[in-house]
Amino acid sequence: MPKVDIVLAGHLPAKPEKNLEALFNVHPLKTAPADSIRGVARVGHLDVTRAVLESLPKLEIIANFGVGYDGIDLKAAAERGVIVTNTPDVLTEEVADTTLGLLLMPYPLTGTLRDRTVGIAGLGRIGRAIARRLDAMQVPVVYHSRHPVPDVAYRYYADLRQMAAAVDTLVVVLPGTDATRNLINADILKALGADGILINIGRGVVVDEPALIAALKAGTIRAAGLDVFANEPQVPAELMTMDNVVLLPHVGSASVYTRDAMGQLVVDNLRNWFEKGAPLTAVPETPWPRKP
Ligand code: 8YV
Repeated sequence: MPKVDIVLAGHLPAKPEKNLEALFNVHPLKTAPADSIRGVARVGHLDVTRAVLESLPKLEIIANFGVGYDGIDLKAAAERGVIVTNTPDVLTEEVADTTLGLLLMPYPLTGTLRDRTVGIAGLGRIGRAIARRLDAMQVPVVYHSRHPVPDVAYRYYADLRQMAAAVDTLVVVLPGTDATRNLINADILKALGADGILINIGRGVVVDEPALIAALKAGTIRAAGLDVFANEPQVPAELMTMDNVVLLPHVGSASVYTRDAMGQLVVDNLRNWFEKGAPLTAVPETPWPRKP
């Protein structure tokens, strides 16, 4: 059978990229034969807009490298029957470890975790893995999410502001969507309070960055630990000059082990789709399973 033409936008880690090349005709987007492209492996920041989707008439699947898949027009993809997959589970523990790293940073004149309650905004897979680590450290955990999570004992706050007011450290593990954009605004930071620490490991757009900078300057909150930024790869210059922030360059999942596993799941999603007609890890908004 002739190899399927796919686009690789960006680069996978070396091992999975080799595996991809063994299975497919891999093209960079710029020089791809648009009329025959049936799959996209998406790494990094390429915006998959309606226009991009329209320029690839035979497209069947977009396999995203990363659990977060903001930047893909899901509605336009669904309308065209294009399946979107992501890379859940394989990065959960790594991102939770990085979060712990940020939580343990020596912020000015605070204990790190002693006597602090941690509020987690977003108790999905990663949020729960963070909570498990904090359980082991005997740090009290509470959470906010759209709905209570049925099988956990942590106290649930339906109202994010109320939770921010009740905790010492707010850990944000939310995806970047229209519903979460600027959710952490001046009001929430004020509620978090002068001893408060904000950790963001989810998506930068969830935090109103100018409001955060103002709050850090004014002492409205004490400190912040950030792995993600609103307009990556740009990081606001002001944040870099502050001594009450710890900044990481979006490396939550960045170990060789985990990035290889993420890359291989991209390959496996594409392979399973083209060989068996079934993606492995389709995102919930995507037209899969197909309706009869
Ligand atoms: C990736 C991430 O590094 O999984 C995610 O959503 O943010 C990170 O694990 C990133 O997506 C790679 O581009």
